[in-house]
Amino acid sequence: MIHPVRCIVLAAFVFVVFLVWVPEGVCQPVPATISVDTSARGAAVPSTLWGIFFEEINRAGDGGLYAEMLQNRAFRDAPADPVGWKIEQAPAARVTAAIDAAVPLNAGIPSSLRLSVEDGGGARVALVNEGFKGCRLSGKQDTPAAVAKWLPAFRTAAAKSTDGLALRSGVVYRLVVYVRADEEFSADGPSLTASLEKRDGTVLASQPLEGIAGEWKRLAVVLAPASDATDARLVLSVPPSGKGTLRIGFVSLFPSDTFKGRENGMRPDLAGMLASMHPGFLRFPGGSFIEGQTLATAYRWKETIGPVEERPGHWQIWGYRSSDGLGFHEYLQLCEDLGAEPVYDANCGMAEKEFAPVDSLQPWIDDAVDAVAYANDPVDTKWGALRARNGHPTPFGLKYVEIGNENGLSFPWGGGSKAEYRERYLPFYRALKAKDPGLHLIATANIAAPGVPVDILDEHYYDTPEWFLQNATRYDRYPRNGPRIFVGEYAVTKGIPVASGSTLKAAVCEAAFMIGMERNADLVSMSCYAPLFINPAWRGWSPNAIVFDAARAFGSPSWQVQKLFGENRTDSLLETKVQCAANDALASASSSSGSGNPEAVNPSRGAASGKPLPVLHAVAGVRNGEIVVKIVNASAAPIDAAIPLPPGAGRAIVLTSDSPDDMNSFEQPDKVAPREEPVPACGKDYRRLLPPWSLTVLVVRPSSG
Ligand code: AHR
Repeated sequence: MIHPVRCIVLAAFVFVVFLVWVPEGVCQPVPATISVDTSARGAAVPSTLWGIFFEEINRAGDGGLYAEMLQNRAFRDAPADPVGWKIEQAPAARVTAAIDAAVPLNAGIPSSLRLSVEDGGGARVALVNEGFKGCRLSGKQDTPAAVAKWLPAFRTAAAKSTDGLALRSGVVYRLVVYVRADEEFSADGPSLTASLEKRDGTVLASQPLEGIAGEWKRLAVVLAPASDATDARLVLSVPPSGKGTLRIGFVSLFPSDTFKGRENGMRPDLAGMLASMHPGFLRFPGGSFIEGQTLATAYRWKETIGPVEERPGHWQIWGYRSSDGLGFHEYLQLCEDLGAEPVYDANCGMAEKEFAPVDSLQPWIDDAVDAVAYANDPVDTKWGALRARNGHPTPFGLKYVEIGNENGLSFPWGGGSKAEYRERYLPFYRALKAKDPGLHLIATANIAAPGVPVDILDEHYYDTPEWFLQNATRYDRYPRNGPRIFVGEYAVTKGIPVASGSTLKAAVCEAAFMIGMERNADLVSMSCYAPLFINPAWRGWSPNAIVFDAARAFGSPSWQVQKLFGENRTDSLLETKVQCAANDALASASSSSGSGNPEAVNPSRGAASGKPLPVLHAVAGVRNGEIVVKIVNASAAPIDAAIPLPPGAGRAIVLTSDSPDDMNSFEQPDKVAPREEPVPACGKDYRRLLPPWSLTVLVVRPSSG
């Protein structure tokens, strides 16, 4: 017989061996218990808890969500170079093309493209646009001098023999051209013909542009391609007989099937992905985009409304010019179409590296207050009338305004100190509350103090997977007598490979952090992952939620997590306890240094502490009589979890994959995607095996409910 003491020692030895062994090989399930108290409702969960953040970065808008298909539609993307356009002509032709300020289109677009054909050389002269073909961006570069870096890279990308406009047969494409001719221009037949052509020359659709005259004319035609294409080009061609000078001020091509059929609207596939996230709000339009590095490149919403062919656009911080076609009005309209609260981020007179003097803030304050007036005032007011003229008489109901972006944080790259922010924030706060005391105003730094009211505080986190696990409990410890929290930007950006999208591991660790936010929904009222979109041909930041090119799109694992949380909201919390004795051993298996981020374009925000990482996370709540339990296993071992629940049935949605490093791609868009399975019966003995590196959402309807 074995002595009891020996028995205990042996058992302890076996347990230690188990803990050490688990991380190495094929893992044994580790026991755990997740207890959900269904007897009492906890805090209410705000409908704004899960939202989205849109910023013009990585061609998220122009060349992305905004459905305009032509790059450089106003010939303003570079000062003297019609980037995005090329002239094709016969070898013997004598043709010149240049951007020319002598004949502006209007006050907003103070130049046009002069196309002079002395001799067509027996063939057509074609002005060709192949859409947003991309160029590698790096970091922030908002000065016009950045064009010097941008142009050569763009030309290389534009010369690529693949890609182009993505066309779908069955969809019609609306072309608008602002054009005029010099008096002496002559041609047999139409002076200009618009066609959609494949790279091999196949003409998919063609229409003459009739009515060109000696003054600016807006000519509109509809092009209906005969078949699909992903390498198409818009061709505006002067016939072989054409001679003289044409001036072209603005050329726009939109699909007819924009999201919700809006004119000047959004790409339906990308906006559809946003809709499928059920966002509670949309924060816009940035980000650093609203700041600029200098005030000259800051976002000014008043220049982003009205007819698109009159919007000047502007150089912006992420290294390319924004057409501002996706302007203030379109953002508000998108919020309405998504059923999301608008959260407008206003520049508070602070660019990253330049601040308006405190005694010269008034124009910036007026901009913020007038933005609220434009969104909300009745139609018999100045701004309400303008909104109505722009197509939306009903107020949009803007309730949230953020004062600045990342100001007052003393970042090495700028944005000002707390003191510099506070003295600008306060007059904004007072003016906005005077405009509407019901507005929820958001500060970007924790400056709350007597006499410095902060309704909501925006916090941003970009860090390692481990940081997100460690900080899943951060809001458990926050005081409840301060501002509510808006986690306005967050993502795992370090310790994972540099790529357009994220990995499963990153997504699972973000999910753990989200569980922490949901558990603290009495304090954390809003959150959104960042950035939202990337066209990989224009990468200025990684990773991102949604990756697209002209024809395709896929969600990263992080997007899948965001979507799962948005789809599986709760209205109120149920107290949830997690017990996992082997947590520390699992944790050591989970914290790897990752593959690093040698090309990191993202600023460093500090590192995780050395404490053991919690790997099992859960939160539960109720919605429409269903119990929703979200569970993260952020370890390499499966966890065998006892989850006692009331008798009932439902479903489990599980997001996992073979490896924590798995990503999605254009070729494998659903490699990391949730799988749903029925839960035919559950009750007090219910157990689930939680796969390694997984998010499980359990939705159960109690049979008595
Ligand atoms: O999300 C990318 C950038 O990160 C945002 O523009 C800025 O607010 C933050 O630094």
